[in-house]
Amino acid sequence: MNVVYETVILILCCLSLVSCFDPFSIGTGAALAASYLYQNLKNTVCFFKECCTEREIPANFNRLETSLKEKLYGQNLVHDVVVNALKGHWNGEPTKALTLSFHGTPGCGKNYVTTFIVESLYAKGSESVHVHNFLGRIHFPLKDKTEEYQQKLYQWIKGNVTKCARQIFIFDEVDKIPPKVLNILKPLIDYNARIESVDYRKAVFIFLSNTGGSLIADQFLKLWQLGVRREDIHLKDFESLMTKGAFNEEGGFQHSDTIKSNLIDHFVPFLPLEQEHVIECIRDEYKKRGVQYPSQELIDEILVGVEWGPQPHNLFSKTGCKRLSQKVALAVQKHGLYKKNN
Ligand SMILES: *[C@@H]1O[C@H](CO)[C@@H](O)[C@H](O)[C@H]1NC(C)=O
Repeated sequence: MNVVYETVILILCCLSLVSCFDPFSIGTGAALAASYLYQNLKNTVCFFKECCTEREIPANFNRLETSLKEKLYGQNLVHDVVVNALKGHWNGEPTKALTLSFHGTPGCGKNYVTTFIVESLYAKGSESVHVHNFLGRIHFPLKDKTEEYQQKLYQWIKGNVTKCARQIFIFDEVDKIPPKVLNILKPLIDYNARIESVDYRKAVFIFLSNTGGSLIADQFLKLWQLGVRREDIHLKDFESLMTKGAFNEEGGFQHSDTIKSNLIDHFVPFLPLEQEHVIECIRDEYKKRGVQYPSQELIDEILVGVEWGPQPHNLFSKTGCKRLSQKVALAVQKHGLYKKNN
């Protein structure tokens, strides 16, 4: 690639020499030609190897807000925290990497929100080379390999951040990661982190776990019994609980230095989903398959398969909106609805 750059510079030099004779016409032409050439070259390079400019990383926050508003149900709290935290980190000069920790029972939208974030920040979404996914059970299965995992993780993060500062690292199933693995992140997410001359402040770390999920559900139920509406629940109703929950349950952040030194910027609680939200999810799944207005019977057919808890109120779906997709697909097949609508 260097050869190409040198050639361009050579051409630029020649052109600027020529332009001395007629600074106006040739000069302008040369500058235009040069910038055209340079742009083309850059585009070609960036076509083969994803670059690190606004084109690859547009950070479209409007898109993020729209996705959250239209496709995420019952999580107003999440919406506000996520949007504000990311915007703040992106638009200012960050003093540390952004660290978000998502908590909640399965199926309440943690992965969903993560996908929206990735899709709005990066043009290629989860396909982007700047997006890194780590799955507890797949990437870190063995406790006695903790040190090996730590070394690998550090090298990966360092290598990628060196190439482009705007990286996002997603740790799914944090509760399945051996307790000490994530301690390696501590220096990287600390204030003014600069290690071996690599600056980590522009990176984003997202941690997803079911930890604290049942505590969140309990707390929500308590508030519900006091007559507090879902929309009126605030982050502060959960904050102390989140830190405690993340500490006490198995794996991930258990006994973790990361938590102890308060390096997680935001603990984000995902509330368990109620019937109205599950119905919205079901409608969405039908819509995706061309059934714009599913009848009550079609919705009920899916709804009866959903388990509710805890006793005695049975207010929440035990699995959130998980696996509704397959069930709706089945119903659509069974009733031959594909044909009618397509
Ligand atoms: C970047 O991270 C990926 C894992 O997502 C890893 O496979 C790759 O080796 C890393 N790149 C560098 C330069 O370290």
